[in-house]
Amino acid sequence: MLGSQMIKSQFPILSRRVNDKPLVYLDNAATSQKPQVVIDAISNYYTQHNSNVHRGVHRLSDESTRVFEESRNSIASFFGAESEELIVTRNATEAINGVAYGWAAQNLQAGDVIVTSLMEHHANFVVWQEVAKRTGAKLEFVGVDDQGRLKLDELRQKLETSPVKLVALVHVSNTTGTVNPIKKIKKIIANNQKETPIRLLLDGAQSAPHMPINFKQLDVDFYVFSGHKMLAPMGVGGLLVKKELLESGEMKPWLFGGGMIFSVLPEATEYNPDLVERFTAGTPDVASIVGLAAACEYLKTLEMRKVEQHDRELVLYAIEKLSRIPEVKIIGPVTPAQAGQSLDRLGSVAFIHQTAHAHDVSQILDSEGVAVRSGHHCTMPLHTHFGWQATTRASFSVYSSKTDVDALVKGLEKISQVFK
Ligand SMILES: Cc1ncc(COP(=O)(O)O)c(C=O)c1O
Repeated sequence: MLGSQMIKSQFPILSRRVNDKPLVYLDNAATSQKPQVVIDAISNYYTQHNSNVHRGVHRLSDESTRVFEESRNSIASFFGAESEELIVTRNATEAINGVAYGWAAQNLQAGDVIVTSLMEHHANFVVWQEVAKRTGAKLEFVGVDDQGRLKLDELRQKLETSPVKLVALVHVSNTTGTVNPIKKIKKIIANNQKETPIRLLLDGAQSAPHMPINFKQLDVDFYVFSGHKMLAPMGVGGLLVKKELLESGEMKPWLFGGGMIFSVLPEATEYNPDLVERFTAGTPDVASIVGLAAACEYLKTLEMRKVEQHDRELVLYAIEKLSRIPEVKIIGPVTPAQAGQSLDRLGSVAFIHQTAHAHDVSQILDSEGVAVRSGHHCTMPLHTHFGWQATTRASFSVYSSKTDVDALVKGLEKISQVFK
């Protein structure tokens, strides 16, 4: 069973005490903790294989290259993608910037329209503001309804009436937990395809840790994720790009230098025809890639289907418990979009405490050993839209349990006593 003592014991940091209380870590949407197998994989790489990849014939370089390539393959396979479709980045933010520099800068011009939404993380918002400024493209936003769901009619209307070239949307919101209906979104896009295709970017920073992702089946043009939110080290993430966009040259490299070349002469440089090499300029962070592959293997052993089921149960449990506290107002979907469907929400539950400020809430919870996050969670447009100054978010991972939610609820009840 996920969330069990056995799973918790595989994450060394979870045995820490904070403020003389056992640590209850509910800040997983910001970053997750790392299991011993990931820490060991990184340590083993540095103690046994460390050497630069590809450019040496000595034993360590050969081993390092093999470990690097196997890790890349393993990460791509975890996401149901081909190895060539994976461009390793530092995080989701860098991956979205990669689409901005490697795709948007080449394919957008004045008059084109980029569509994003009001529920985006700043990483999938500010980048497009900047691209719009630089290319002259227009940026338009799809709104959200009262429960924080995307207004699909608005998306449809924009696609019908504007020359949209890119739709960039979050898969699972880091603030409301909303799971966007990708199949429906794709259908709306498909019904409005014109001569120049509309590309779809999915920000998977909060979906990759919580649900099975199969890039081929998702059938989106770009999917981005951050390793550190899915049990891997900080500093590694990825951009998955449909192979046809890479092969046709529609998506171009945006980092240049050593490693990605075939030949270099003073007059001109020919880039490496191998897609992986072409998008790997400079020395890769091999140890972190090894760590990410170990995290993928660990999650595969747990089975992502079960991870999703576990996270859904925790979200429902937290909603049920938190809604009994009168001062707490839960934000995001609390009832299914359609009767008979499961709740389209995953990974986190954020709320407003009506009598205590969000920062006081998290400070008092911290004194109880409970780590949550308060603020705007890098979704200022959404907070502004709803008039929220700050919200408090509890977010889950494979080691989170109902007991952790109980500790949160106990802390909140204490806060209600203090801030009457
Ligand atoms: C939905 C979403 N997108 C993008 C990001 C950016 O991730 P990173 O800071 O790892 O690049 C986050 C981080 O919280 C996120 O939740």
